[in-house]
Amino acid sequence: MIRLGVNIDHVATIRNARGELHPDPYKAALYAMKCGADSITIHLREDRRHIKDKDFKKISSNKKIPLNLEMATDLKILRIALKNKPNFVCIVPEKRNEITTEGGINLIKNKKKIKKILSVFNKHKVRTSLFINPSLKDVEMSKKLNAKCIEIHTGKISNLIKNNKNYKNELKTINNVVKYAVNLDLEVHAGHGMDYKTAKVLSKIGGIKEFNIGHFIIGESIFFGLKKTIKAFKDICN
Ligand code: PXP
Repeated sequence: MIRLGVNIDHVATIRNARGELHPDPYKAALYAMKCGADSITIHLREDRRHIKDKDFKKISSNKKIPLNLEMATDLKILRIALKNKPNFVCIVPEKRNEITTEGGINLIKNKKKIKKILSVFNKHKVRTSLFINPSLKDVEMSKKLNAKCIEIHTGKISNLIKNNKNYKNELKTINNVVKYAVNLDLEVHAGHGMDYKTAKVLSKIGGIKEFNIGHFIIGESIFFGLKKTIKAFKDICN
């Protein structure tokens, strides 16, 4: 069985479009959990374009919500994270001008900061993960940096599948990366750009323990509701 983390950033995007209070990401977190999500993911970006500090505070204060915080290697965000104590963290790259997280983090360039941040969270018993491109080198480096999990950036395979292009090579790469990581005793997660088709393809290779899905779930819920959408993903995960 693969766990499903529901990313609710885009509930905040819709709320922020009006600058008012509705729809409330906290309410979305509660409802997603009720509908069968295994955890809730939020990304507190440096520019606060969707999730705000008050959302993080409110969601993390409810200890019944297993919370996964995505964050850049930013010491200010680290301080906020330590105050709010999420259950899990995933270190991601962040660029101001990107629409979304375009790729995995550059482990070489950010080595020092990543090592420090991971050691702080490991000490605080917060489950740590690194958002990486599907590469054996990055898996090896993640292990060396003492991450407990890796999350594979699935943007490339998702795009190939959505555009009906040949995704076999990318799938093979991901499969090798998953097996290598499992061998190194790293827990493997996957996320970015996933929809039903991508989830189906990736669920078949075995070894992935968690999917983190946001944009498609919130978008599909416009047509079918969060309950049906989460259930459909849970059926794929099972
Ligand atoms: N996992 C990570 C680490 C992310 O940064 C994101 C958002 O870019 C997602 C999963 C969810 O991606 P999406 O919204 O495309 O499903």
